[in-house]
Amino acid sequence: MKDGQPSAIYLKDYQVPAFLIDKTELVFDLDESVTVVTSHLHMRRNPESKHKTAPLILDGGEDVKLIAIAMDHYQLPSEEYCLTDNQIIITATADEFILTCETLIEPQNNTRLEGLYRSSSMFCTQCEAEGFRHITYYLDRPDVMSVFTTTIIANADDYPVLLSNGNEVSRSVNEEGKTVAVWHDPFPKPAYLFALVAGDLNVIEDQFVTQSGRTVELKIFTEAHNIDKVDYSMDALKRSMKWDEDKYGREYDLDIFMIVAVDDFNMGAMENKGLNVFNSSCLLASPKTTTDDGYQRVEAVVAHEYFHNWSGNRVTCRDWFQLSLKEGFTVFRDQQFSSDMNSPVVKRVEDVSFLKTAQFAEDAGPMAHPVRPASFIEISNFYTLTIYEKGSEIVRMIHTILGEEMFRKGSDLYFDRHDGQAVTCDNFVQAMQDASGINLSQFKRWYSQAGTPRVEVSGEYDDVEKTYQLTVSQMTPPTSNQPTKLPLLIPVRMGLLDNEGNVLNADLDGVNAQEHVLHLDKAEQVFKFKNVASAPIPSLLRGFSAPVKLSHNYTVEQLLLLMSSDNDGFNRWSAAQELAVRELTALIEQVKLGETLTVESQLLVGFKRVLSDETLDKSMVSLILTLPSQAYLSELATEIDPHAIKAARTHLKRLIGCALEQKFADCYSQNNAKVDYLPTADQIAQRKLKAVALSYWNESDSVTARRAVIDQFNAADNMTDQFSALSIAVNVGHSDFQVMLDDFYSQWSHEALVVNKWLMLIAGQEADNGLDQVRGLMEHEAFDLKNPNKVRAVLGGLGSSVSTFHDTSGSGYEFLADQIILLNKRNPQLASRLCTPLTRWKKMTPSLSVLMQKQLERILSEELSKDVFEVVSKSLA
Ligand code: TRP
Ligand code: ZN
Repeated sequence: MKDGQPSAIYLKDYQVPAFLIDKTELVFDLDESVTVVTSHLHMRRNPESKHKTAPLILDGGEDVKLIAIAMDHYQLPSEEYCLTDNQIIITATADEFILTCETLIEPQNNTRLEGLYRSSSMFCTQCEAEGFRHITYYLDRPDVMSVFTTTIIANADDYPVLLSNGNEVSRSVNEEGKTVAVWHDPFPKPAYLFALVAGDLNVIEDQFVTQSGRTVELKIFTEAHNIDKVDYSMDALKRSMKWDEDKYGREYDLDIFMIVAVDDFNMGAMENKGLNVFNSSCLLASPKTTTDDGYQRVEAVVAHEYFHNWSGNRVTCRDWFQLSLKEGFTVFRDQQFSSDMNSPVVKRVEDVSFLKTAQFAEDAGPMAHPVRPASFIEISNFYTLTIYEKGSEIVRMIHTILGEEMFRKGSDLYFDRHDGQAVTCDNFVQAMQDASGINLSQFKRWYSQAGTPRVEVSGEYDDVEKTYQLTVSQMTPPTSNQPTKLPLLIPVRMGLLDNEGNVLNADLDGVNAQEHVLHLDKAEQVFKFKNVASAPIPSLLRGFSAPVKLSHNYTVEQLLLLMSSDNDGFNRWSAAQELAVRELTALIEQVKLGETLTVESQLLVGFKRVLSDETLDKSMVSLILTLPSQAYLSELATEIDPHAIKAARTHLKRLIGCALEQKFADCYSQNNAKVDYLPTADQIAQRKLKAVALSYWNESDSVTARRAVIDQFNAADNMTDQFSALSIAVNVGHSDFQVMLDDFYSQWSHEALVVNKWLMLIAGQEADNGLDQVRGLMEHEAFDLKNPNKVRAVLGGLGSSVSTFHDTSGSGYEFLADQIILLNKRNPQLASRLCTPLTRWKKMTPSLSVLMQKQLERILSEELSKDVFEVVSKSLA
C-alpha cells in the first residue's frame, strides 16, 4: 500500500445522523456517454441529534462529478462548501431546506459494479452497502430513511423497459422524443435499497393474491434469450410469498413485485424494495442447462431476497455493524423455507457441512470477526459466512431455546415493534426475550465473541443407580483482538441409545423424555440423567443445535451404531463423517511420514449397511457416502498439507470403490431409470445417488463403469446427469475426457451459465499442466474479465485444484496474486474475495506457507483499494 492507509470505523463511535432526508426526488437522464443525475433532497436537522450546529456532510465523489449544488434554489458558490475525495461538507445550513445536486456519472466505465453500471445492453444498479454514493451525493447510511420518487429519462428504442422501486406513476414522451417514466415508492427506505433498471427486456407476468385479498402483480425480466428460463423462479416466488404468510404472518405490501436478471453482478442477488436484482446464475433455470443444485440455489435465493422485504426492508439495520440482523435472520428464514419445500434432514446436512467447512475456517483465520463486528475498514468485506451462516445459526439457537410458538411470538413482536425503523441486533434479541419471558442476556455474547467454541463431553454410567452423568466443558479459542472469551449459552439437543441402537428414555431435572436440550452456560458443568435402563451411547448435538466443535470419545463400534440406527437422521450423517475423518486423518499422517498407506476401513462396513438400507432416503445415502471434502479436512488440520490430504482421500475413495464395486454397479443401475426431469426432492435424491455410485464404481478400472460414464453423458436429457458424467470423466482421467469436454463446449457455447461450469471444471482439474490450462481459459473466447461469474469460475476452480494451486514452486499462488492485482482497481469487491485462499497461509505446511506469504506481501506493496488492503493487511498481521 502506497500513500495513506485507510482507517477503521468503530461501532462504539455510532452517532445518530445530524440530518434526515424526508423525501428524495431523483432524475436520471440516461445516456451511453454521460448520465446526468439530479437530486432534490428534502432535508431537516434530526431532532434526536445532540449536535444542533453540525455541518452537513454528504457522501459521494471519486466517480461522481459535481456540476451544481443549491440550497432552497440558491446556487452555492464554491466558497460555501468543501469538496473532498469522498464528501461534500456544508457548514452553514438552515434547519430545514431542499438541497439540489446535479452530478455526472459514466455508468459505461463503471467496472466496480457498485452504483449505476452497464451489464450487457442494460443499465442497472447495486447500492448495498455503499453504492449509492457512486450515483450522487447523499447521506449514504442505513438509518437515513427516505421516500423516493425516481424519474428515468431514456431513449425509447434501446430502453423500452424503465424500472425503479415502488409503483410506476406516469410515463410520457418528452420534447426530445425520449421516454420519461416516474416511479414512486411510498415506503421510506435507506439508499442501499434503491434500484434502477433500464433496458430492452422481456418479461413474464403472474399474480399473487395475498392473505388479505390484495392482488400483487409479479414480473420477472430478462434479456430475450433467457426468458424461457424463469418459470421456475416465478413458481419459487409464489411459494415464498405464501410461505411467509403462513409461517410468519408476513404479507407483501406493494401492488407490484419485480425481479430482473443481470449477467454482471458481484454477489448472488439484491433485495431492493419491490425491484430485486439478481445475478442471472441465481435466477435462470431450465432442465437442460441447470443442475439440481442450481435449481435449489435459485429457489433459496428467490426466497431469501423476497423474505428481506420484511427482515431487512420494513425493519432495516441501524448501521452496517448490524448487518447480521437482516442477513442472519433472512438466511434462517430461507433455510426453513427450503427445508419445508424439500427434505429437512438433507437440507440441514448440506447447510451444516457448508458451515463447518467454510465458516469454521473463516472463524479460525485472520479475518475472524464476531457476528456483530466491532470495527471494519471496508464494509463490503463483511458480507461473510460469519455474518450470514453463523448469524443464521444464532437465530436457529434462539428458535431452539424458545420453541416454535414463542419464537413466532417473538418475531411478531419484533416486526410490529420496529416496523419502519432502522434497528440493532439487540432490538431483535430483546423482542425474543420480551415475547417469551426467557432471559437471553448471556446468550447475546454470541453476537460479540468471534471464534468457534469447542465443547467436550464425557459420560459415565452407574449400573447400580441407573444414572448417566455427562460432564460438559466449553472453551472458545482466542481470536485477533479477543484474547479471552466468556462462556456462551449453548443449546445441545441430545438423546440416548442402548447398545442395540434402540432409543432410551431418561429423566433430566424431573423430565422423562427421549430427547433433551441441555443448556450449557458455564465453562464446565454436569448433567445427571436418571432411570437410564442400560449403559447408553449419547447422540449429541442433534440437528447441529449449536455452531460448535463437539468432541466425545466414541469407539468405532459406537459410531457405526449411530450411523446405522440413530433416530436422528442428522447424527447418522455426523457419525459417518466422524468415522471417515478418523480414517482419513490416519492416512494423512501416513502420507506425511512417507509410509505405505494402509487402513482397516470400518467405514466400508458402515457403507455396505447403508447401501442395503431400503428405509433410508436416497439423498441421505449419498450424503453419508460422500467423503469429507478436501476443504473440510483442511479446516480440521492443525497444519494443512494439501497434497497429503488429497493422497489420503484418493486412497480411501479408491479402496471403497474397489471393495464395493458390485454394490455400486447395482446401485447405479437401480437408480438409472429414465424419467421426465423435475426438480423434486425424490428425483434429485435419485440422481444424486446415481452420481455418487457412478463415481465410486469408476474407482475400479472396470470397463463397464467407464462405458456407463460415456453413455450417461451422451444420453442425458438434463444438466445434472450430463455434468455429473463429465465431472467423473475428468476426475478419473477417463480416456475420452478431453473429447467430452470439447463436445460439451460446442454443445453449450451459447449458454453463458453452462460455459461457466465448463470453465470451472477445467480450471479445477488435477492436471500436470494445470496452470497453462488456466492461462488458456483466460484467453479463451468464453472468458470475460468484466464478468464476476467467469472470473470466479476460473480462479475459484484454480483454487480447488491441489496440484495446480498448491504447486510446490509457488506458481499457482503467484498467478492468483497477479489476477488480484489486476482486478484490484477494476473491481475491488471481487478482488478482495479472491484473496481468501491466500489469507489462510499461517495454517499451511511451512514450505507452502512462505510462498503464500510472499505473494501477500507482493500484493500489499501495490497501491490498493480499501477492500483488498483490509484483507491482505489483516492476514499478514
Ligand atoms: N443483501 C444482499 C443479500 O441478499 C447482498 C448483496 C447483494 C451485496 N449484492 C451485494 C452485498 C453487493 C454487498 C455488495 O444477501
Ligand atoms: Zn440477504
